[in-house]
Amino acid sequence: MADIENQGSSNKRPPSQPAGLFGGHLREFWRDRTGFLTRQAALGDVSFLKMGNQPVFFINHPDLVRDLLVVNADKFVKGRALQRAKVLLGEGLLTSEGAVHLRQRRMIQPAFHRDRIAEYSRSMVDYGDKMADEWKAGDARDIDQEMMRLTLQIVGKTLFNADISDDADEIGAAMTTLVGLFDFLLLPFSEYLEKLPIPQAIRSKRARKTLDKVIYGIINERRRSGEDMGDLLSMLLMAQDEDDGRGMTDEQVRDEALTLFLAGHETTANALTWTWYLLSQHPEAEAKLHAELDAVLGSRTPAMDGISNLKFTEAVLAESMRLYPPAWAIGRLSIEEHQFGEFTAKPGTLVLLSPYVLHRDTRFWENAGDFVPERWETQSVKEAGQRNIYIPFGGGVRRCIGESFAWTEGILLIATLARKWRLQLESDQKIGLNPQITLRPKYGMRMIVESRVKAVTRPG
Ligand code: HEM
Repeated sequence: MADIENQGSSNKRPPSQPAGLFGGHLREFWRDRTGFLTRQAALGDVSFLKMGNQPVFFINHPDLVRDLLVVNADKFVKGRALQRAKVLLGEGLLTSEGAVHLRQRRMIQPAFHRDRIAEYSRSMVDYGDKMADEWKAGDARDIDQEMMRLTLQIVGKTLFNADISDDADEIGAAMTTLVGLFDFLLLPFSEYLEKLPIPQAIRSKRARKTLDKVIYGIINERRRSGEDMGDLLSMLLMAQDEDDGRGMTDEQVRDEALTLFLAGHETTANALTWTWYLLSQHPEAEAKLHAELDAVLGSRTPAMDGISNLKFTEAVLAESMRLYPPAWAIGRLSIEEHQFGEFTAKPGTLVLLSPYVLHRDTRFWENAGDFVPERWETQSVKEAGQRNIYIPFGGGVRRCIGESFAWTEGILLIATLARKWRLQLESDQKIGLNPQITLRPKYGMRMIVESRVKAVTRPG
């Protein structure tokens, strides 16, 4: 076993699992990431690991989460994978830091205002309805792929006013390639990704080319028409720097657009896929959901103004994101020394936390491993968020900008699809986790589409 004494800390080293001779804990971590971090959490609220030469503190307590993401956020920058993701995503909202990030965030924020989301909600339901109409009873569909296609189309339409239905599969595949490269970005030399003579470099170039073609196509068309469509794309194209009055270059607009396409579809799609899976395994919760939809909606299509009545639908989504948080791990790199409890993280330490592990911690959750949407009838999402025990959208200045977008989209799509269909897992479908940048199902999610027998409508 390698000696990892005192790396990344000045005095006392946090407890750690035995490490391999080469690469520290990287191999064990890669073999079973969520399992590894769950074992790591059993060592204490602060524990230590090494990924290659990188010293890592793993923190697992709500107070430490707040410390890292909120109180002392300015002592940290984004973790290594996201820093290196600049090769793929450029300087978008996910990857930028400091003053650039603040300026971009302020500029983009209005696109996520409540009124805008109310506008978007119509497209969310329209695209959901279109998918519900395409499905036929008895179809076997990969719901993972279906949800990706659906959420990608919705981001395209709502933020960029572009109907990408025809290209959705091609774009989705290119996005999947990019996301698949995030692992690779943890390795040494990966910053030279596109210059390396390896298959990942070829795939990366091809995927970027596909995405650039679509995104520059959308940008060029809008610049040519000169029209202000009132959407995010128009906002980006018309934005001017307060200091020098200069607008954004096409490349900057492309970086933001690509970031929002990526961050805005993959996460919500995963949340929905796990939700369909969980519902298929819990018929009593599924029946309760159907009863709510029948009682609240009757024969009407779901809409934003009735969303607050879909309480159980929201609880189902909240519980699904507790058990399977799409952003299953969040990392930061320390740029200043910082004390976590009795342990000191030196500058250059990667600090990792995992919503997946925290959301299943028996100290904070009763029946932590079980799917119990009813728990959200007595506990609000907001209150659990304020206690930092429920953090699917992160926290602090880098908290997800698309949070209300995602809740609205998730609830409306569950309602739109479950109004007509129930999804049954194919009998030989294996279930496993593929925790990349988001928590994807390892073997896809093939499900059979079944026509829904209308549940008995209860009054009130
Ligand atoms: C269920 C759906 C979603 C989940 C679970 C989720 C989760 C997260 C999390 C945890 C972060 C913070 C990452 C960190 O601190 O390192 C984040 C950031 C971000 N998310 Fe989301 N997200 C979702 C949906 C969306 C949507 C729909 C959009 C846009 C349409 C979006 C755009 C972004 C952006 C741009 C950032 C970076 C914000 C910044 O650094 O200022 N997300 N998301």
